[in-house]
Amino acid sequence: MITAIASRKGGVSKTTTAVSLSAALAGIGKRVLLVDLDSQASASLSLGVPRSALFPCLADILLGSRPAADTIRSTATLGLDLITASSDLQSFEREIGKRPNREACLKTALVPILPRYDFVILDCPPHPSLLSLNGLVAADNFLVPIVPHFLAVTSLEPLLWATERLPAAYGVRPRLLGIVLTQVDYRTNVARDNVARIREQFRDAVFAVEIRTNVRLAEAPGAGQTIFEYDSKSTGARSYRLLAAEMLMRAQEPEPSKPARDPRLSTEERLRFSKYRPSGEVH
Ligand SMILES: Nc1ncnc2c1ncn2[C@@H]1O[C@H](COP(=O)(O)OP(=O)(O)O)[C@@H](O)[C@H]1O
Ligand SMILES: [Mg+2]
Repeated sequence: MITAIASRKGGVSKTTTAVSLSAALAGIGKRVLLVDLDSQASASLSLGVPRSALFPCLADILLGSRPAADTIRSTATLGLDLITASSDLQSFEREIGKRPNREACLKTALVPILPRYDFVILDCPPHPSLLSLNGLVAADNFLVPIVPHFLAVTSLEPLLWATERLPAAYGVRPRLLGIVLTQVDYRTNVARDNVARIREQFRDAVFAVEIRTNVRLAEAPGAGQTIFEYDSKSTGARSYRLLAAEMLMRAQEPEPSKPARDPRLSTEERLRFSKYRPSGEVH
């Protein structure tokens, strides 16, 4: 199963979630591959890969100079493998130009190695970009982290809208596995209100597990360690273990009833037909 961690925004815990979820799944015995799609290589660096050792990386695969199998490396976490990113990914965006099927380079490249893994987690750069599009086209499903700030949902709606366009444009239909509330800080009333508003609006689409603000999660990448290596008793570690468990449950649930196909309907109208419907307006 391939899961993309995607959002319109930077700084919403995509990388933290991709790394921590991957490590949590490996921790319960799953075979996991984390693929870093961000040219800033945050996920790779977070896992302790030195900047000078990022090569070979995902850019080599996408540009066709190496098979994916040649770029996989193991990590300090048993069961967790990694394909690194590097600034070379910027040249992918440039060089790939108008090549046909340019949005499916990742999907095609991953095919030979999929049998080795139970889960492939994609740490996407902010959407839209050709790389994040490659992530969504390759993915069976996707998970969207959201920080409950004012106007947070404005970052959500265009991504949901974009994924609605994927079937017609590229013949793929990744499923929304869920929206994850991250960096939740209940010391402020405004956070409480925003969490309530997002839950009311997107109901079942929102994971029950919330990731609170936890300084240990912010410290772990600097030590080149996952949260489980860095502080396995922290609230961050506990939350991501629970998130992995909820992810497994959600992935096993039958897909919610299909949204209406009428292209004239807005995203919000389509979501009304699905289990993951918003109850109010999408602001
Ligand atoms: N739950 C959290 N508590 C505290 N800090 C967090 C939490 N989640 C992420 N961070 C920190 O916030 C910053 C942005 O997170 P990151 O995962 O890199 O976001 P993105 O990949 O969406 O840009 C990083 O410095 C990260 O360590
Ligand atoms: Mg990131």
